[in-house]
Amino acid sequence: MDSVTKRYPDGTVAVDRLSLEIPDRAITVLVGPSGCGKTTTLRMINRMVEPSEGSILLDGQDIRRQPVNTLRRSMGYVIQNAGLFQHRTILDNVATVPRLLGWSKQKARARAAELMERVGLDPALAKRYPYQLSGGQQQRVGVARALAADPPVLLMDEPFSAVDPIVRKGLQDELLRIQQELGKTIVFVTHDIDEAIKLGTKVAVLRTGGRLAQFAPPAELLSAPADSFVEDFLGADRGIRRLSFFPSAGLRLETGPVVPIDADAERLASRATADWLLVTDADGRPLGWSEPERLTAGSVDRDRLLPYGRPFVPGTDSLRAALDGAVLSPTGWAVAVDGEGHAVGVVSQQAIGEAIRAAHDRAAERAEVNAG
Ligand SMILES: Nc1ncnc2c1ncn2[C@@H]1O[C@H](COP(=O)(O)OP(=O)(O)O)[C@@H](O)[C@H]1O
Ligand SMILES: [Mg+2]
Repeated sequence: MDSVTKRYPDGTVAVDRLSLEIPDRAITVLVGPSGCGKTTTLRMINRMVEPSEGSILLDGQDIRRQPVNTLRRSMGYVIQNAGLFQHRTILDNVATVPRLLGWSKQKARARAAELMERVGLDPALAKRYPYQLSGGQQQRVGVARALAADPPVLLMDEPFSAVDPIVRKGLQDELLRIQQELGKTIVFVTHDIDEAIKLGTKVAVLRTGGRLAQFAPPAELLSAPADSFVEDFLGADRGIRRLSFFPSAGLRLETGPVVPIDADAERLASRATADWLLVTDADGRPLGWSEPERLTAGSVDRDRLLPYGRPFVPGTDSLRAALDGAVLSPTGWAVAVDGEGHAVGVVSQQAIGEAIRAAHDRAAERAEVNAG
């Protein structure tokens, strides 16, 4: 988008000289308060709204140079509440665009069934009507319908805003997975900054009047908001939230304090100097914490162990998850587990603090290299 302005006939400037380079095969999020021009921007991309000034290029070509129907066919569009056709079955809703493109009924329905599966919908729902589905299910149908003709671009306008937080999380995870699998170029509009940070490869923060406040990867928004508007919009806990972009893989894990419930007296004695021991079951899954002097070989009372909080998976989870685990743990130590839930070590708050400082230093060095 090259210096795009939209002035509506009544004089409202919805978008003001907006320039954005939207990356291919990634999710770009437009976020900002209500009325800041997000929907207008999205609709200019598929020419449902025409800019007053400036130009929009797709793969280097002005979008006005191709027929509007061809343009729209290359862009799936998903809106809040899915906008499904109420008198059509779920399968036929998803098959809408292929049918418009002249596919046979059979081929279009086969494609629709495949897409239902892709977005995590039970095939048994195919014959139902939209009103017979939950909000979250309808939203999945909306995504499947937008994907039906396999367009390279998906435009999504607050698609998940009307569903409850738990369903929304599922839909967000599904969208990330689909994007990874299919490599679509997605422009996603939301007013929810947490959703923007979770989904966006890059995030454009817009302010009222349709002006761009900042366009950056989420970790950069959190570490270096461009101004007080962006900072206020990001809200509290910016530092903590930024930790979700730092991997926990480099944390120094200690295995000494981890003992199985069937440890013999000799083994327990060798750990007696630790402040706390993490007791695991015979398979190595954590059971809880104990002070060493309270453990007697052969008769460990599981009910007297202290809860171990929420374990994290090094390499998969972030430093935020590790810190959360340490804060939730009554001992101040976080428990690290592998993908199957076996304890692989424990890590102190102090070690996590050191890892956070090191990660900040590395990020600052990278920023300096990029700036210089
Ligand atoms: N068709 C229209 N005519 C006049 N003003 C409009 C029209 N559509 C939107 N607007 C105004 O343009 C501004 C941006 O609207 P919109 O793009 O819908 O914002 P958002 O999606 O961020 O809430 C708002 O002030 C809105 O009232
Ligand atoms: Mg809107």
